[in-house]
Amino acid sequence: MLSKLGDMADDMLNNRMLAFDIGTEKVRAWERKKGLIVFSPEGETDEERYTTANATARGVADGRDLLAVGDDALKLQGRSLKTRVQVRQPYNDGAIRVTDEDHEAVRDMLEYGLEVVYGKFGSWRRTSSIGPSFPTTILTAITHCSTTDEQKSLENTIRELNCLPRIVGQPVATAIGAGIPVHEIPASFLVDIGGGTTGVAVISMYNIAAEPVDYKIGSRKISWAIIDGIRDDLGMLVGPPTAEFLKRNLLTLGKISYDESRVVRGKPIQGGKAEPIKISQRQLQKWVRPLLMKELVEPLRIYLEDLTPELHADIQERHIQLAGGGSLVKEFDEFLTEEVGIKVEWVENPMFSLIIGLGKMLNDPKLLKLAEQSLLSENEKRMLKACNRAEEPDSSAQLVVRAPQKLDTTIPGIPEVNHA
Ligand SMILES: Nc1ncnc2c1ncn2[C@@H]1O[C@H](COP(=O)(O)OP(=O)(O)OP(=O)(O)O)[C@@H](O)[C@H]1O
Ligand SMILES: [Mg+2]
Repeated sequence: MLSKLGDMADDMLNNRMLAFDIGTEKVRAWERKKGLIVFSPEGETDEERYTTANATARGVADGRDLLAVGDDALKLQGRSLKTRVQVRQPYNDGAIRVTDEDHEAVRDMLEYGLEVVYGKFGSWRRTSSIGPSFPTTILTAITHCSTTDEQKSLENTIRELNCLPRIVGQPVATAIGAGIPVHEIPASFLVDIGGGTTGVAVISMYNIAAEPVDYKIGSRKISWAIIDGIRDDLGMLVGPPTAEFLKRNLLTLGKISYDESRVVRGKPIQGGKAEPIKISQRQLQKWVRPLLMKELVEPLRIYLEDLTPELHADIQERHIQLAGGGSLVKEFDEFLTEEVGIKVEWVENPMFSLIIGLGKMLNDPKLLKLAEQSLLSENEKRMLKACNRAEEPDSSAQLVVRAPQKLDTTIPGIPEVNHA
C-alpha cells in the first residue's frame, strides 16, 4: 500500500525516467528506480534477458498495424512476404535515419520499452496528472557522427510519445558506464565495437579531446565475412545465424596452436540438400582478419598517429579501452594490442557499458548535464578535425573547452541490476 502511494507520488513529481541504448542491433533500457529492464524473462544469459533486437514489424495492409517489436519482430523476417509484413531495423551503421518509416520504427521501439516498464495503459501516457503536466523523461545517447537533423528527429520522436527528451554524447556515457576515469585530465581512449559501427573517442575531463570518429565496421560485417568466406572457398551457403554461431563459438583472433573446428550445415551453391560443413579456426581467421585489418586496424593506426603528443602519451599510459558486443570475439584485445602497438584491454561489462552509464545519469543530474555538454556542435567538430590533422583551423571557429563542474562524489559503482 505504502509503496503504491510512493509510486503515485513519484508519478506526480515527474520521477518517471527511462534510459534507452538504441543500438544498430540491440536495444537496452534502464528505469531510474528498477534498474536494467528485463525484455525476455526466459533468457538464460544477461544478453538474452536484458536486450532485445532493434526491430519492429508492421503489417503492410490493414492500416499498417504494429505486429511485433524487438526479438519477435526479427523472427518474422524470412517468415513472411515482404508485401504483407515489413520488418524494419531503424538504425543503420549506428546512425539515426530521418525517413518517416524509420522514425516510426524508433517510436514503436521506445513505446514498447515504455509499455514493458510502466504498462500498456500506464500513467506515462498521461501528459498531465493534477494541474501541470509531468511527462516521462527519456534519456538516450547519440554518436558524434549524428547530424543536427538526426538529433532533432530523435527528439521529435520522443516528444510524439508525450515524453521529454534528454540526449547525451555516446562515448562519454559509455565511458562513464565502463568505469573509465573520464573525470581526470589525462585522456582515456575508448573503442566501442558494436553491431554496425566502431566508435572511437578520446575523452578528458568529460570532454571529447580529439575528433570523434565512427568506422563502418562492426559485428555484422564480421558475420558477413564468414558467410562470404564459406561461399567463396567452400561453395556453400549459410545464413546469419550460422555465422553468428561460428563467430561466438569458434572464431579467435589470437594465435592458434591447436586448430579447433565445428560442424555446421549449409546448402551447396549449385543447389541440393543441406549438408554438414566442417569449419576450422584457421579458416575463420583467414576470412575475418583482412576485413579487420583494412577497416579497423589501419584507420586506428592513422588516427593514433595524428593525435597530439600529449594525448598519445596519455593513451600509452592508460591503454586503449575496448567496449561493445562486437569486441567480444575471443582474443580481440590481444589482436589489437599486437597490430596497433598500444596495450588494449576490455572494460567491465563491455556489452552494457552505455546503458549502465545512462542508468547512472538518471540518478545523478550533474553527471547527466556533463554528458549532455559533451555533445559537440558542428563548429567544434570542425575544430577538432583540424586539430587532429594539424591543419590550420578555420579562423571563424572557436573551440571552447568547457570546464567540467566539480562532482560531489566520485563516479558511483555500477547500480544493482533489478528486474522490471
Ligand atoms: N561472445 C560474442 N562473441 C562475438 N560477438 C558477440 C558476442 N556477443 C555478442 N556479440 C555481437 O555483438 C553484437 C551486438 O553488439 P552491441 O550490442 O554492442 O551492438 P549495438 O549497440 O546494437 O550496435 P551499435 O553500437 O553499432 O549501434 C551482435 O551483433 C553480436 O554478434
Ligand atoms: Mg552500441
